[in-house]
Amino acid sequence: MDETQNFRLKYPPLIDPFGRKLTYLRIAVTDRCNLRCTYCMPEEGVPFIPHERIIRFEELYRIVAVMSGSGISKVRITGGEPFVRKGLMEFFERIAALDGLRQIHLTTNGVLIHQYIGKLKRLGVSGINLSMDTLNAEKFKTITRREGWEEVQKSFRLAMEYGIPLKINSVIQRGINDDEIEGLARLAEEHPIQVRFIEQMPFNGLIKEFRKPFTASEIKERLENVFGELYPENNPGSTAQLFSVPGFAGKIGIIAGYSRTFCDSCNRLRITSTGILKTCLYDRGSIDLKTLVRDGADDARLYEAITHAVAKRHKDGFEAEEMTMNIPKQSMAQIGG
Ligand code: GTP
Ligand code: 5AD
Ligand code: SF4
Repeated sequence: MDETQNFRLKYPPLIDPFGRKLTYLRIAVTDRCNLRCTYCMPEEGVPFIPHERIIRFEELYRIVAVMSGSGISKVRITGGEPFVRKGLMEFFERIAALDGLRQIHLTTNGVLIHQYIGKLKRLGVSGINLSMDTLNAEKFKTITRREGWEEVQKSFRLAMEYGIPLKINSVIQRGINDDEIEGLARLAEEHPIQVRFIEQMPFNGLIKEFRKPFTASEIKERLENVFGELYPENNPGSTAQLFSVPGFAGKIGIIAGYSRTFCDSCNRLRITSTGILKTCLYDRGSIDLKTLVRDGADDARLYEAITHAVAKRHKDGFEAEEMTMNIPKQSMAQIGG
């Protein structure tokens, strides 16, 4: 993985009908989360997908190799906690050696990753996004319905010690943790990290009505009441609108995941834990890449299937969601965020 290399693509780049180039792949390596966050799952969890329906690492490797030859230069491995899956480090090592991949990131709930931070640093991980919805150990239990607070704190400390670029993700739920916006934001006062506040999205595995979340503009207002005017940073292609605050070592971000204000520059593809390709977080999934690989598709066939999905990409997350209105929303644990 060389961030400065000049790499000749094997295939034409992936460009959707709206001229957006796809350069970023998010891979959900597992649906088996070790937490039960209220915004992600019902109390009893969601049924685990049987092992044979989960895409294997060697199957994923083939797909990532084809994609890295067609302009995907950034990969994010997501969980829950991606390290609940055995063999993840070997997979990381293999894809890190692919020509064309310049960045590999991880998104984690932080419960297991602390054991692997040193190795990840040696392998050149580009950054870690760590969920932290509260600074209060008891509230952690209420939100996640599980233990794990100490482990998450350990992951935070170790990522800082090893100098791994760190982003904190906090999903804001009205009446649950909106009172912690200031405290969480202050983590970026002391540390050179991003603290990002996220609008809750309707991915909790339930069919029930989803109430309008605590919105990006409400979050901004809260922050400005405490820190004064926030100065937007230019950060194209990102979900987060970043802000600098005078005197802060790091930055504050707001992710309007529900309001979807960033779709026109979206450069992402997703592969779910069952090997389905998604061209939008809000879509149903376009192509079953796992089955194609299992049926013996060669690289050219895989590339063709991916371009076919990209050619049908929706304009934005609202259009994609319209097609799935009457279908129960998957849990975020299955999509990987
Ligand atoms: P980077 O920009 O690569 O740092 O990551 P990210 O912020 O996109 O990824 P992360 O896994 O940390 O997710 C943070 C939040 O953004 C989660 O709530 C995700 O569900 C949400 N998110 C990520 N990608 C998209 C997207 O394409 N659309 C929407 N609506 N939300 C997204
Ligand atoms: N809405 C918004 N963000 C969510 N995440 C999980 N479920 C939701 C939801 N319903 C976030 C997690 C993690 C990232 C992968 O997605 O907090 O940071
Ligand atoms: Fe919580 Fe993420 Fe696990 Fe869902 S996948 S229960 S949000 S840690």
